[in-house]
Amino acid sequence: MKVLGIETSCDDTGIAILEMEGPCFPPSIQIKANLVSSQVKIHRPWGGVVPTLAKREHQKNLLPLLKKSLDRINQLHPEKTVLSRSKKESLTKIFFKSEKWLKVISLFLQSYRPPNIDLIAVTQGPGLAPALWAGVNFAQALSFGWGLPLVPVNHLEAHFLSSWLPENGIPRPKPVFPLIALIVSGGHTQLVFADRFSHYQLIGETRDDAAGECFDKTARLLGLGYPGGSPIAQAAEKWQTIISQPRKNIPAVIEDISLPRPMIQAKNFDFSFAGLKTAVSYLHQRLPLTVKNSFFYPLKMADEIQQAINDVLLKKMVRAARDFRVKGIVLSGGVSANQQLRERLAEKCKENRLLFFRPPLAFAMDNAAMIALTGYCHQQEAVPLCRIPGLQAEANLSLAENVAH
Ligand code: KG4
Ligand code: ZN
Repeated sequence: MKVLGIETSCDDTGIAILEMEGPCFPPSIQIKANLVSSQVKIHRPWGGVVPTLAKREHQKNLLPLLKKSLDRINQLHPEKTVLSRSKKESLTKIFFKSEKWLKVISLFLQSYRPPNIDLIAVTQGPGLAPALWAGVNFAQALSFGWGLPLVPVNHLEAHFLSSWLPENGIPRPKPVFPLIALIVSGGHTQLVFADRFSHYQLIGETRDDAAGECFDKTARLLGLGYPGGSPIAQAAEKWQTIISQPRKNIPAVIEDISLPRPMIQAKNFDFSFAGLKTAVSYLHQRLPLTVKNSFFYPLKMADEIQQAINDVLLKKMVRAARDFRVKGIVLSGGVSANQQLRERLAEKCKENRLLFFRPPLAFAMDNAAMIALTGYCHQQEAVPLCRIPGLQAEANLSLAENVAH
């Protein structure tokens, strides 16, 4: 079965086409096309994602990415196609707020032969409402135009399942339930207990900022760039190289920098990263310019920020795995790209005889391949499909019921 995935929850426009076969989860997967258009440059001057700009960019990017993807699987065939009156009416309902979009999509549907695709999957939420709507409306239009079923997908579940997308074409090890999953991104930090596919319990989450948000905000404060996860990780690596060499001359005030590990001792599985950001901000304000201008300062700060965030994430994941007596841990979401977090968690899992699952690096960040995979799995489970106009974007969609532990 060929599945078209569409992702627009934040600032990455993603279109993917996956060929999948077999059991609901995990199926055998071939990635036929996987395109992501990043809007980082557009949002960078604002230091964060601007929802209305994100929507505009998604609308601009979706159709070109779709055409490119269809071309990759040799399914972009120009051919005059007649749209029935009822299809036209459905499209008019979907795009009642945007005549321009109605025209663009209608023209596309009338100019190309419907492709050999079996199912469409789209991110319904959670995410930024205007951004989500761009994808949901686009998906609905294609679903009507091509007469294909449409499955709404939870973005967080898609991150969870991304660990089973193939790595360089090679299938990933099969999941073994029960599992503890950490979904950690720019918008979320959630610990989830999964006893089988599609059965999730939220056992803890951040009470304020997400871990990725903390990377982003502290990196901005230190002038390291946006988004902050990757520059912080690179700066931290430089620091580690420096302190591993014998001749250093590092001012003591920099070597002594230490940050709090918020809620690390708390008995629950919740997180809080706003305090860490504030601690970085206070320290930054307090230190004299001579220290802040030192070459070593941002490197040591980055290392300490990364250690602090990872210490807390690791401690809670491993404790949850022990308390819930699971067989493995899943690390997913944009922050799962963090190499130190991956390495330290892999070690912890080995020590505790736990299986360790994480997405291939290419699928750690937002992408539409994980959306197509999740859509396929739910379609196989015969979850109701949407074929009527009326699929709603859900900015606050949750993955699971919150259970107090
Ligand atoms: O999952 P994602 O692409 O988008 C959301 O759903 O939020 O995650 C983006 C987040 C950003 O906050 C970014 O700073 C973080 O993932 N990130 C990283 C790394 N690469 C990206 N955080 C830590 N280390 C990295 N190497
Ligand atoms: Zn995400």
